[in-house]
Amino acid sequence: MDKTLAIVTIVAALAAVVEGKGVCNDLHRDCANWAKKGHCTGKNKEYMLSHCPISCGTCQFECADKDDSCPSWAKLGECEKNKASMLSLCPTSCGICAPVCKDVSPDCKIWHSTDIRFDQCTTNPEFMLRNCPVTCSTCTSTCKDMHADCPGWTASGECNSNAAHMYMTCPHSCDACKSNQRHECHDFNATQCDIWAKAAECHNNPEVVIPMCPSSCGVCTTVCIDRDESCHQWAISGECDKESARPFMLKTCPSSCGVCHELEKIGATKDEL
Ligand SMILES: *[C@@H]1O[C@H](CO)[C@@H](O)[C@H](O)[C@H]1NC(C)=O
Repeated sequence: MDKTLAIVTIVAALAAVVEGKGVCNDLHRDCANWAKKGHCTGKNKEYMLSHCPISCGTCQFECADKDDSCPSWAKLGECEKNKASMLSLCPTSCGICAPVCKDVSPDCKIWHSTDIRFDQCTTNPEFMLRNCPVTCSTCTSTCKDMHADCPGWTASGECNSNAAHMYMTCPHSCDACKSNQRHECHDFNATQCDIWAKAAECHNNPEVVIPMCPSSCGVCTTVCIDRDESCHQWAISGECDKESARPFMLKTCPSSCGVCHELEKIGATKDEL
């Protein structure tokens, strides 16, 4: 139990470090091995740069767009046309960097209502989706690695040999959110998961319990990412700026529509105050 608490504390500390900034994760377990074999520069370069950005050095673990024009360049299709330079200059707008989200106002919970007639997230989306991204679900709860070395540790089998620690620190690489297709962070049964978490089962039986109960086991991070694979193409065809499509687009495609870029800027400004 003490060990669990210690690990939870470490993960919380790591999460605090990246707050406001984003995290960049590899998409495949084998990335570190592929990179070691030279695939980051070979004929699979284009694929590797976007799917194994940590192992190929496309972005730093702690990441953010480096230019204010990133959202506009992304909407012009530059992420594809100039992949190598755009992915490192604009990792958030090109979708490989996921800013960690937090609500800006303590009133978000009051403004949000389950009755859509009174729900500010629905009636006032431009303001709300930016200032209350957690409450208004602009952001997605998912499994993100909280350490830059996760791909390497994963490639050398640590998810099995050191499961309790690894699932907590590297839930993305260890596939802790594999229970649903979109890799969102959901407990299969909140009541049962709560019972297991209180009985320290997340720690005692991590390989089975954490993938079933990622939320109760505390491995979820709320980040700004697109929710649909077509987002980038929709953004390029102008959907983010069409009045009729905009409310849907801002919520479904926050990365491609530039909302994630704004969120990480708000986070950075707040941290400097
Ligand atoms: C969830 O778990 C509880 C406690 O074990 C159980 O009583 C309940 O039937 C489960 N719910 C579903 C929908 O499986």
